[in-house]
Amino acid sequence: MINPPVRPDRPARARTRRRLALVLAATGALVAGATIALAPSASAGTTLAASAAEQGRYFGTAVAANKLSDATYVGILNREFDMVTPENEMKWDATEPSQNTFTFGNADRIVNHAQANGMRVRGHALAWHSQQPGWVQNLSGSALRSAMVNHVTQVATYYRGKIHSWDVVNEAFADGGTGARRDSNLQRTGNDWIEVAFRAARAADPGAKLCYNDYNTDGQNAKSNAVYAMVQDFRARGVPIDCVGFQSHFNAQSPVPADYQANLQRFANLGVDVQITELDIEGSGSAQADNYGRVVRACLAVARCTGITVWGIRDSDSWRASGTPLLFDAGGNKKPAYTATLNALNGGSTPPPTTTPPPTTPPPTGGGCSASVTLNSWTGGFVATVRVTAGAAGTNGWTVALTLPAGATVVNTWNATSSAASGAVQFRNVGYNGRLTAGQTTEFGFQANGTGTGLTPSCTAS
Ligand code: G3I
Repeated sequence: MINPPVRPDRPARARTRRRLALVLAATGALVAGATIALAPSASAGTTLAASAAEQGRYFGTAVAANKLSDATYVGILNREFDMVTPENEMKWDATEPSQNTFTFGNADRIVNHAQANGMRVRGHALAWHSQQPGWVQNLSGSALRSAMVNHVTQVATYYRGKIHSWDVVNEAFADGGTGARRDSNLQRTGNDWIEVAFRAARAADPGAKLCYNDYNTDGQNAKSNAVYAMVQDFRARGVPIDCVGFQSHFNAQSPVPADYQANLQRFANLGVDVQITELDIEGSGSAQADNYGRVVRACLAVARCTGITVWGIRDSDSWRASGTPLLFDAGGNKKPAYTATLNALNGGSTPPPTTTPPPTTPPPTGGGCSASVTLNSWTGGFVATVRVTAGAAGTNGWTVALTLPAGATVVNTWNATSSAASGAVQFRNVGYNGRLTAGQTTEFGFQANGTGTGLTPSCTAS
């Protein structure tokens, strides 16, 4: 994990916040399976990165190396963002243009800029069917498999210790209703190519979070269900995956889904972080601004949604510039979408009804708290999501007790601590989710081996 220097141009308050966020991020890296998030602050930040940091999140952008000489671009980049993703410079065609000859010049320019300015880096992307150099397109079978493993190993090793998260595999599932893998030369090397890539990445850079990244998976649909099943399977079998990236390229044909937050949450409930990795929303004015606000609020509502990256800075920097999908206009001026994003990060708006799931348990009329559980089960394991609802007096803390069936063993817990791995288990709140106002809900979860039938949670408030 890198420890970036503090930018001299940041105000003291922002620097203090940033250090706090970095300490928490570093602590989080040491606590396996735990999630660290900051409670919303009463103070309002004045930049995207500072406001996101107050919420325990990062705010990033895609960066193109050839724009690092553009003063307007760099001015906005340094002022507003604390995470960067090379837009094209870490892709296979850029980093290994001929076999075993690696070129990192443009990617290094971005990484060096990030490190010199206190930003972290998302690596994008190690294995992808697109933007492959010609020599890769001409390979197949075991020769391609070996080349893929070598590429993942060499690139992740070169950047070891400098990458916050890697998009290890990008866009491996087909669109449409089949839920199938995308046909590609990589897929034709065997269905296990994705897990092989993840294992190679972990071996090369154990400190980076390893993500699967895709588009059209932002709501619940056949494609996202297939990704969900893969992540669930990887978690159950110990394949190293830490995060799922939701690209979130939206326009009139592909709007922000009504179940966006719920979809992020169900992936988070598998015990992985979720990240919004390539956000852009075509449109203008208040409609575009409202959509940006919805996306930000959805992320903030999911404890394991650890950050948001927009796919470029100014509309003119976008891969689809004609749709004016970004936060700054071509002149570098803040758009209404910027203000809505900042306000949402500062907690200044009320979530729309479509992103607020109805409580499944009515709040008790007396004191105390109540708990309900939902299960996602597969052969040999399950994920339990437990919703805690505060009674009329609210809570300062809570404990949920439940007894696991014989043979069931907890392997991972998030948003709570657990007293035991089997039998009678008590789950207690962590620092950021113990205090609930009357009727307020929070969720924690755990993954276990065995079966979870008949779980009956009981809640005690303190
Ligand atoms: O650099 C060459 C330039 O020398 C040449 O003159 C010019 C002529 O077409 O092409 C330039 O390369 C272009 C490159 O972007 C850099 O601008 C490629 O043609 C163009 O295909 C490439 O597009 C990129 C696209 O991925 C390729 O798939 C976009 O910039 C990039 O934003 C986009 O990013 C993807 C993510 O990686 C994955 N998710 C979807 C997202 C949007 O498509």
